[in-house]
Amino acid sequence: MNLSKEQEAELIAEARAAGEKAYAPYSDYQVGSALLFDDGAIITGSNVENARYGLALCAETVAVSRAYGEGRRGGLIAIAVTGPIHKGDGAPITPCGRCRQVLNEIAQLGGTDPIVLCVGKDEVRRVLLSQLLPHAFGPAHLT
Ligand code: THU
Repeated sequence: MNLSKEQEAELIAEARAAGEKAYAPYSDYQVGSALLFDDGAIITGSNVENARYGLALCAETVAVSRAYGEGRRGGLIAIAVTGPIHKGDGAPITPCGRCRQVLNEIAQLGGTDPIVLCVGKDEVRRVLLSQLLPHAFGPAHLT
């Protein structure tokens, strides 16, 4: 499904706002994520780091956890991911491998293939989740 320019802008703004709430004192790399559902709801998340560095939670995974906590089990149609403005090369940020798998679960539960807006400094890259994670392992494999 294609989003309107306004829907895209709102989703990206929500992700950016979430990124500002990130707890990322160790990497100083604030990530924001916003999930759009088919009823218009937007659920956000930001990365949460830990003094035990390897325990960091990614923004996308935090957002998906919040969605499950609200009872959602599908209906995911779009995802925006933003990185920090002051750090990095400014290239569009793409979800890490683990986040792709976590996003895939809730997407497949509802039979959707969400569009992922990978937001960079001057560019938004639009890809389908199935392009980021082809031949995904998912819940149907276990039935
Ligand atoms: N990070 C995310 O939140 N999402 C990603 O998809 C990539 C990485 C976070 C984890 C860590 O807190 C920081 O970015 C640097 O890796």
